[in-house]
Formats: sequence, C-alpha cells, structure tokens
Amino acid sequence: MEKQHIIPSYGRKRSHGLSDSQKNNLSTLYKFYGIDLPEDIIDPRQLFEGKFDKIILEIGFGNGEHLINRALQKTSVGFIGCDPFENGVASILKEIQKHDLKNIKIFNGDVRLLLEKLKDHSIFRMYTLFPDPWGKRKHHKRRLLSAEFISGMMHKIILTGSVIIATDHEDYMLNILENLKDIPRIKYCRNMDQLSAKPLCLSTTKYEQKALNQQRKCYYIRVYV
Ligand SMILES: C[S@@+](CC[C@H](N)C(=O)[O-])C[C@H]1O[C@@H](n2cnc3c(N)ncnc32)[C@H](O)[C@@H]1O
Repeated sequence: MEKQHIIPSYGRKRSHGLSDSQKNNLSTLYKFYGIDLPEDIIDPRQLFEGKFDKIILEIGFGNGEHLINRALQKTSVGFIGCDPFENGVASILKEIQKHDLKNIKIFNGDVRLLLEKLKDHSIFRMYTLFPDPWGKRKHHKRRLLSAEFISGMMHKIILTGSVIIATDHEDYMLNILENLKDIPRIKYCRNMDQLSAKPLCLSTTKYEQKALNQQRKCYYIRVYV
C-alpha cells in the first residue's frame, strides 16, 4: 500500500476525561489484548500465534458491540478491531476480559497505520460500519473511504474475501460507489434493493440503532474480490 498523507477521519480520540476504571482498563488490559504497531510487515495470523486461519478486521468499532458479538459467534476466526477512540477501546477491553475471548486483538489507532503493516491478501473480511460521514462539503476530505483507501483495503483482502460497508448517509454511500468504479477485479452491487438489505452476519451497532430510531435509511455495500 502506498504511503498516504493522513488527514484525521475521526472527530476526537476521547469524548471526556477517561474515568479511573477506563484508564485502568487501558493500562492493564491493552498489554494482553492490544496490538502495538509492528515495525515490519506481518501476517496478521501471527498476532494470534497462528491459531486462526481466517482473520476479520473491523474498522471503527466504536463501542465494540458488533465486534464482540461476532467474536463470540465465530470462535474459530481471529478478529482485529481498530479504533483511535480511547473510550471505546477501554469498553471493549473490559468486554473481551469478561467473556475471556481469545480471538480478538485491538489496535488503538488509525487503521491506515495498521493496514500498511499487514501483508497483502491476508484478511478474509473487513467491516466498516457507519464510518463518520463528514457531511459538510468542506469536510469531505476527511472521509475515510476515499478511492485510494478503498483500493488499499482491497489489496489486503484474500481471493474470495469481502468488504462490508454500512452507512446511513446517502451522499457518502453514492460517493463510495463512485470510488469503487475504477478498482479492478472486484464485484459489488449498485441495485438499491440489494443495498438496503442488511447482511445476515451483521448485528446492530449503536449508530445503526440511532439511524433506525430516527427513521433514516441504512445502506449496506458488499464488495467481493
Ligand atoms: C460513527 S462511529 C461508528 C461506530 C460503530 N461502528 C457503530 O456503528 O456504532 C465511527 C467510528 O470510526 C472510528 N474511526 C474514524 N476514523 C478511523 C480510522 N482512521 N481508523 C479507525 N477507526 C476510525 C471513530 O473513532 C468512531 O469510533
């Protein structure tokens, strides 16, 4: 993946002062379940000492409800979650400990830094669920799912793997479809009925619930290699 100039795609790294228990989670649990940025390129299976053949990456897990659900359902798959938001990282670390999950690792940082360090064609699936839409035109440059980023993501996906993107923001959805147009050797659907159908593997996230409560339509883009 080419080196990118990184414009922050997230609002803030913490929402208010971290509570003492959140600070404690970060300092005591991150060393067990956290990932330090590797110096060299790695095969992500190494993060789990080779115990899992299939690796799934969730980008921007927020409070982590979807990632925890998936890891509980699929104990034979290794899950990596990535988010710079420290409050969410502190919560998910606690949940991983509570459920004694051996198949999740967390990177507290920008996914673009981690992806640069992962071997090409090493991830079975990536989820990015309700990425920050950056609705105002002057903020569009902060959208994570640029053509360059999506193309870099696709390089990390194994043959027969996929990327699932969900958003409740129609303009962002159209922008993502536009960005997919020139990427070679991928398949995806532009049909509105299919874009509105939620993939069975997804559980509800906090932002999705918020959108549904406000009767906003959600879109689910599936991209296959
Ligand atoms: C709108 S929230 C959605 C959270 C969750 N997926 C949900 O649906 O409830 C977007 C999340 O993406 C994270 N995010 C933004 N830019 C990111 C990046 N470059 N790498 C990883 N996570 C990022 C934010 O910190 C935030 O937690």
